Amino acid sequence: MQQGSMSPVAVVTGGAGGIGAATVRHLAKSGWRVAVLDRDEAMAAALATEVGGLAVAVDISSRAQMSAAAARVAELLGPCTGLVAGAAHLENPHAPENQDPDEWDRIVATNLTGTFLTLQLFGQHMLDVGRGSIVTLGSITALNSSPLVAYGPSKAAIVAMTRNFAVAWGRKGIRVNCVCPGPTRTPAVEASYARGERDPEVMRRQTALGRLVKPEEVADVVGWLLSPQSSAVTGATIPVDAGVLASQLWNLYGGPG
Ligand SMILES: NC(=O)c1ccc[n+]([C@@H]2O[C@H](COP(=O)([O-])OP(=O)(O)OC[C@H]3O[C@@H](n4cnc5c(N)ncnc54)[C@H](O)[C@@H]3O)[C@@H](O)[C@H]2O)c1
Repeated sequence: MQQGSMSPVAVVTGGAGGIGAATVRHLAKSGWRVAVLDRDEAMAAALATEVGGLAVAVDISSRAQMSAAAARVAELLGPCTGLVAGAAHLENPHAPENQDPDEWDRIVATNLTGTFLTLQLFGQHMLDVGRGSIVTLGSITALNSSPLVAYGPSKAAIVAMTRNFAVAWGRKGIRVNCVCPGPTRTPAVEASYARGERDPEVMRRQTALGRLVKPEEVADVVGWLLSPQSSAVTGATIPVDAGVLASQLWNLYGGPG
């Protein structure tokens, strides 16, 4: 990777969160200058200081804020050639008939509209320079049924959006792929275990590897997708789930363990 003023620029939305922060650290170590975009201003600023990057406080669901953020990153760092759309509104399991309409709107605004704005507005800088690699964060809930009533469909939309951008921009030098994590032990997920909202042991039993995913393991795959080592990979949906999806039919026969 190039160093100094020629280092390439990557933008990570949700960069202050669990997988986002692991990704920011991975990219910084690999020689990228990283813009940490998050609505959590203090966490974004602390991480940007740690990695020598730029913090931008933004709500990804706001077109005006995202336009301003894209202009600021381009002005201070230059055009990005790496983009990770990781910010998302998470959800707890419930029945569809109990869906809170406000939470539905927040999830669609953040996960669907926010991811689209991220790709459209930061992707413009890649179109300008004729190259780049984009990674969206889906989820295994995009790929099968789950009780995450609004979150799952919002992530399925991200998988579809990823393929649309991959084909629309492939001949313009831009690759677009979706990483779909399974249960990943981020600080937010650990807090959810501690509150009893999820049971890590139940989740662990559904994996092929017999363990949950670490944020750094998702970051490794994202980093690879932003690197030239994945130069022929585009429009792909890549689960990083310790084998949860592969294990599902095994539950008919007593589970994988
Ligand atoms: N952790 C998991 O088990 C898991 C599983 C599947 C998919 N994912 C996906 O991976 C990505 C990262 O997840 P995570 O577990 O690190 O989540 P996290 O909650 O730890 O981090 C998400 C970050 O996004 C930020 N954010 C939320 N809404 C925002 C908004 N409107 N504007 C700007 N920033 C906003 C939050 O402040 C937070 O820093 C998400 O897209 C998530 O859906 C996570």
